[in-house]
Amino acid sequence: MDKVEHLYLHVPFCATKCRYCAFYSEPGQTDKMEAFVAAVLKEMQPWASRLAPKTIFVGGGTPSLLPAPLLRPLLTGWPRNPELIEWTVECNPATVSPEKIAVFQEVGVNRISLGVQALDDELLQMLGRIHTAATAVATYRELRSAGFDNLNLDLMFGLPGQTLEQWRDTLCRAIELQPEHFSTYCLSFEEDTEFWKLFQAGHLRHNSEQELAMYELTIDTLAAAGYRQYEISNFAKPGCECRHNIAGWEGRDYLGVGPSACSTVGDRRWQNISDIDRYVAGPCAPAFAEQLTPELRAAECAAFGMRMTNGVPAEYVRGRFDRQVTQLLQADLAYWHDDRLRPTRRGILFADEVATEFV
Ligand SMILES: C[S@@+](CC[C@H](N)C(=O)[O-])C[C@H]1O[C@@H](n2cnc3c(N)ncnc32)[C@H](O)[C@@H]1O
Ligand code: SF4
Repeated sequence: MDKVEHLYLHVPFCATKCRYCAFYSEPGQTDKMEAFVAAVLKEMQPWASRLAPKTIFVGGGTPSLLPAPLLRPLLTGWPRNPELIEWTVECNPATVSPEKIAVFQEVGVNRISLGVQALDDELLQMLGRIHTAATAVATYRELRSAGFDNLNLDLMFGLPGQTLEQWRDTLCRAIELQPEHFSTYCLSFEEDTEFWKLFQAGHLRHNSEQELAMYELTIDTLAAAGYRQYEISNFAKPGCECRHNIAGWEGRDYLGVGPSACSTVGDRRWQNISDIDRYVAGPCAPAFAEQLTPELRAAECAAFGMRMTNGVPAEYVRGRFDRQVTQLLQADLAYWHDDRLRPTRRGILFADEVATEFV
């Protein structure tokens, strides 16, 4: 059987719940952290012989909320792979400490993704973030001086009340920090969030024109600063693209462990239960599972692959998706280059239109 080369680990704890966020995480609940770590290690046991991760992404939730004495067993509880190339941990600025940084370094974490979101205290407060702009910058510097040479900043735009100038200011100040990578997300209103309720009640709304202007500003400003856009929301200095996420968009197999984590291995996809108590109680039965047909996997590979500026190899789409490709070419959403179908700038700006052609 093929080895699984990509591992995602979901840590479902946050200090407080941000008002826009629908990722599965529970605020507080620190008393459950120890049992969570034990349950993850147990879930991983049967995979020991098949797991040879080249990339690991520890996300959440807020992995950096776990105390150092729990981070160590969590991050060392599976077989090492000498071929591991990238190991990311997501951190919230207010939750990083020298002890945790020391654990990350000791176990081999080589990339940190910092949830900065905005460098504007009023906006951060409105989002329900627990840190200020100054804390975010201080944490960034702390990670840098500890020796991390591969740092990502998560930023968000299209926020309620945010002007184009405010977004430009956050972008420019973030660029001054010179991280290797940026993930920039347009705010989406997600069910089961505080923002969703306000959106449903008509108190919050999308401003599509402004969102597009902010997105174009992002692409142009980051390009001018030497960050190549390689995916709809992701920009990197040359060679610093996130290998783990690229593997996902290329449709590679990955194992996801922890509550709510998704996995795709061979022709099987499943999702763990989004409930810490039931996850910890075990046995770890999936909340959802499906058998994947070759047709579905091919469609997903095309749809996800076209999120990347490099697009997809011709053999992914030729023959199988000729009609869709013609439509994309005619609508100026895609073009051929080097025997790959790639999204045009329009195809990047209106990525949903490209994806819906395939799935
Ligand atoms: C799963 S979160 C984990 C990051 C970490 N917990 C933190 O917030 O500092 C990953 C990123 O998703 C983005 N995100 C979460 N909810 C979003 C939403 N509703 N719309 C747009 N981006 C969102 C944020 O930029 C966030 O940093
Ligand atoms: S954005 Fe990050 S810190 Fe905020 S609730 Fe979501 S996972 Fe937790």
